[in-house]
Amino acid sequence: MPLPCFETLSTPRLQLSPVAEAHLDDLLRMNGDDAVTQYLPYATWATRADGEAWLARMQALQATGGAQQRVLQRRADGRVIGSLLLFKHDEGSRRIELGYALARDCWGQGWMREAVQAACAHAFGVLQLRRIEAEVNPDNAASCALLARLGFTLEGRLRQRWTAKGRSYDTNLYGLLDSDARPAA
Ligand SMILES: CC(C)(COP(=O)(O)OP(=O)(O)OC[C@H]1O[C@@H](n2cnc3c(N)ncnc32)[C@H](O)[C@@H]1OP(=O)(O)O)[C@@H](O)C(=O)NCCC(=O)NCCS
Repeated sequence: MPLPCFETLSTPRLQLSPVAEAHLDDLLRMNGDDAVTQYLPYATWATRADGEAWLARMQALQATGGAQQRVLQRRADGRVIGSLLLFKHDEGSRRIELGYALARDCWGQGWMREAVQAACAHAFGVLQLRRIEAEVNPDNAASCALLARLGFTLEGRLRQRWTAKGRSYDTNLYGLLDSDARPAA
């Protein structure tokens, strides 16, 4: 059965909405920044056409029924400040993987903590999943700190797991179970 499409999720400061073409200008601002894409699997966007190609890939991924691409839309001004992807849904194991990115001028203000916390609550609640995974470059201190703060366990370091952007690198594998203790929202 395909991953059910969840409605827009609301947090105190954000709406996690399904991605749409109208979000591409804000997403270009975010993904046009080398500091944001440094640890992401895609190159820094140069033009809106890069965003359109990304959107087409995300829509194709969603059409498989195993992924949901959301954006973080600030309630105060409607600006899209980030993206959050639930993907690699394994129905039998009730497992999913998580990926995310945030515009650089919004870092360090708890935005992604708020978004990931809501996405995890939704995944364990409405979607009835059992396990959420995330792969993080060990050098990505902010992302590692974010997951640790949210109760994810560092389960191992996979050596030289990926080759991208001309180099191979290790990956920290993080996992969160429905039964794990999590900080209150
Ligand atoms: C990773 C990222 C999403 C974090 O988002 P954020 O909203 O800035 O994170 P938060 O403000 O919720 O902070 C999360 C934790 O990381 C810590 N942190 C933030 N930046 C840090 C840094 N450079 N070094 C160490 N810790 C850092 C914060 O102090 C916080 O910990 P705390 O709650 O214990 O104080 C953001 O930095 C980002 O988009 N980076 C580029 C894209 C990316 O790397 N995505 C992840 C790929 S795996």
